[in-house]
Order: sequence, then C-alpha cells, then structure tokens
Amino acid sequence: MSPSDPRAADARSRQAGDAASLEELQARAGAHVMRSYGPAKGAFVRGQGTALFDASGRAWLDFLCGLAVTSLGHAHPAVTAAVTQQAGTLVHTSNLYLTEPAIELAEKLARIVGWPDARTFFAQCGATANEAAIKLARKHGKRQHEDKVRVVALEGSFHGRTLATLEATGQPAKHAPFEPLAGFVDHVPHDDADALTAAVGDRTCAVLLEVVQGEGGVRALSPEVLSAARDACDRHGALLIVDEVQTGMGRTGPWFAFQDTDVVPDVITLAKALANGLPIGACVARGAAGEVFEPGDHATTFGGNPVVCAAANAVIDTIERVQLLQAARARSRRLGDGLAALVESAPHAAGVRGRGLLLGLELDAPVAAELEEACRERYLLVNAVAPDVLRLAPPLTVSRQEVDLALSALEEALHAVGTSD
Ligand SMILES: Cc1ncc(COP(=O)(O)O)c(C=O)c1O
Repeated sequence: MSPSDPRAADARSRQAGDAASLEELQARAGAHVMRSYGPAKGAFVRGQGTALFDASGRAWLDFLCGLAVTSLGHAHPAVTAAVTQQAGTLVHTSNLYLTEPAIELAEKLARIVGWPDARTFFAQCGATANEAAIKLARKHGKRQHEDKVRVVALEGSFHGRTLATLEATGQPAKHAPFEPLAGFVDHVPHDDADALTAAVGDRTCAVLLEVVQGEGGVRALSPEVLSAARDACDRHGALLIVDEVQTGMGRTGPWFAFQDTDVVPDVITLAKALANGLPIGACVARGAAGEVFEPGDHATTFGGNPVVCAAANAVIDTIERVQLLQAARARSRRLGDGLAALVESAPHAAGVRGRGLLLGLELDAPVAAELEEACRERYLLVNAVAPDVLRLAPPLTVSRQEVDLALSALEEALHAVGTSD
C-alpha cells in the first residue's frame, strides 16, 4: 500500500498510541488534504501549559499559541473540565432551542465589554464573526438609505478569508486569485487620519479596524486614527466595528484592546482565544446596533454550541479567578524589556512593537523567516508575521522562567542568523 492509499491511513490510525512521524503525516496530508496551507513545519501530539510535545516526547516552548488562541496555555484543567462535563451532558441542539452555556456567555461578554445593553451573535471563527458584523452594519445603513452599504477598512488589515471579510482585508495579494470581488470596501492607509475622514461618507455603513493590526505585522493604530474613525462614524451615521479577534481576551492587556483607548466602538468581534482553542466567534453590539438583527436575518447551525460556550465561560471565569490580566501585564513587561535588551545587544534586532503579550520584534533586514527557523531549531515557536517582523504571542499564563528561556533561545537564534549572512 502506498502512503496515499486510504487503507494505509486507516490501518495507521488504528494503531493507537503509535504516533506517526512528521514525514509520514506530511505524506498522508499531501495526498488528501487540500494544499491551501504551506508545508507544515512540525507535528505535535500533546500540549501542557506553554509546552507542546512532539512524537518523540520533546518539549517545545509555544510562544505563538496557535496564532494567539491558547491564551490559558494547552490543556488548561478548567477548560478541560468544562468541555468534558458539557460533552458528556449535551453537545448540540441548534438555535431552535435554548441552552444555558450560550446565554451565560452572552451575559459574561456584556459584563467584561462593559456594555450593559450588549447583545451577542455567536459564530464559529473570526471571519464569520466579522461577516455577521458587516451584515449587521449593512442592514443598519440601509435603514437610513438604500445605498448606505459601503465599508471603510485599513490597508494592511486582516479580517478573514470569507468573500466579504477577504474583501475587507487590506492585503491586495490575498484578493488577487479571487477577483472580481463585490467592490463594497474602501481601503485607506493605516496611519492617515485625514484619509480615513475623507473616505467615510453618506454611503458608508461601517468603519472596520483592528486597534493593533495582528497579521498586518503587530502594528498599533495611532489614537488620532481611532478618534477620526469614531468621529467620522458619528457624523455619517455609520457603525464603528473593532475587530478584536486577535487582540481580545487579554492579549494586549485589558480584556479588549479598545479599552486602553478613548474610543468606544458600536460593535466588536471576537474569536481566537475566546474558548482557548475550541472554534467560536462572537459579534457583540451595543445600543441600536444590538437591535439590528431580527429573526431570519442571520443564523448558523453551530452558533452558540454548548460545548464551545462552556469552554469560553471557563476561560472568562479562570482569567477573573486567578487575576490573569494583571499577571500577563507583568509578563509583558518582562518580555518587552528582554526584547528591548536584545535590540541593544543582538544582531538584526532593531525595535519592539505591539502591546501586552502581542509583541513584534522589528528586524533591520528581511530575515524574519530565517529567524523563525533558527528559533525552531532551538525548540521555540514564534512566527515571521512580516519579512522584517517576528511575532511573539505566548500564553497569558507564561511563567517568568519561560519568558527567560525564550529570550535566551531568541538571542542565540539572532546571533545564528547574524553570522550566517
Ligand atoms: C484580526 C483578525 N480578524 C479576523 C481573523 C480571521 O479569523 P479566523 O481565521 O478565525 O477566521 C483573524 C485571523 O488571524 C484576525 O487576526
């Protein structure tokens, strides 16, 4: 049987406890999984806290958290207990019926966002949360006049890969294979308050932005751009949607990145860390924005699934119980200071940006991919988010020792890359 023979795969998957090698997994994935992702850079069988373990039992320091997702670390006991309990009780009913975990989560979100009148629509991921927000804004706009359906978004942004969110994503290379797109989004530079003000008009139903652009290279927006967005929305009856998919749930310091600014959006979208790795998205709206959707306007079969909502409730409870936002701020200072010291001493390290535990190490040359690989050779997982920026996003639960270990692996990696060019 060849590696691509399904019988070979079935036979292998029956060999419980006998972990497949990376090469074997790559061959099997190469045969039957679509090639939308680049070649995998590793394979893991288990996680615990900040560590991921490969098939040989080797521990890796996970300073990426599955792209800012597993913020409580891997296999957090509170999440495991909530998922296990709920999975053994009730997994799915559809939205024809009520289940308590989703209602409890909507209540908790209203409290931590700080909007007593907040209403939530539950989706499956970041893109579907943004898709809901865009539909909501279009309906809100069309109530004012029929062609108030345009969205203003920023260059360099990332909002997802569904057709509407792909179009909102300000990265033309990602559009190219799928053009023509619908053409309802106007993009402006991420750091130009005047351009943003000029782009918002009577046909604009929403401005959509990230307070810190994650995939766009860990770039924080200026307070001027945020205020310009709020003012322009107020002037033109448009909604301000803040995409907190990557920044939310304590990643940048507060529960949500907007809470460290003077600007209050009408809608926020969440996903990634909300359920510590289980698939969930949420579109949370306040005031009139929360009243826009009526029965039949929007729906999804798995939205508000009791198991993922139980996981998200455990995430929020845990963050509050162990005061994790405060602890994460201390770790952020230690990691930020350590990175700043590397800027002084190590080759290529040129600056530090980002907030909280979403940090970018700026490099003086396009060596981020090489540096990512050099870190992997030292069992440290980080990623090249731009050709000259390395992203670090460890769990909020990361220990001081783990921060120090990661910094020394990174220092070695910088020297290795520095001497290789
Ligand atoms: C800010 C932001 N919005 C939306 C998304 C899309 O989320 P998902 O991949 O869960 O659809 C991402 C993913 O990286 C993101 O960072």
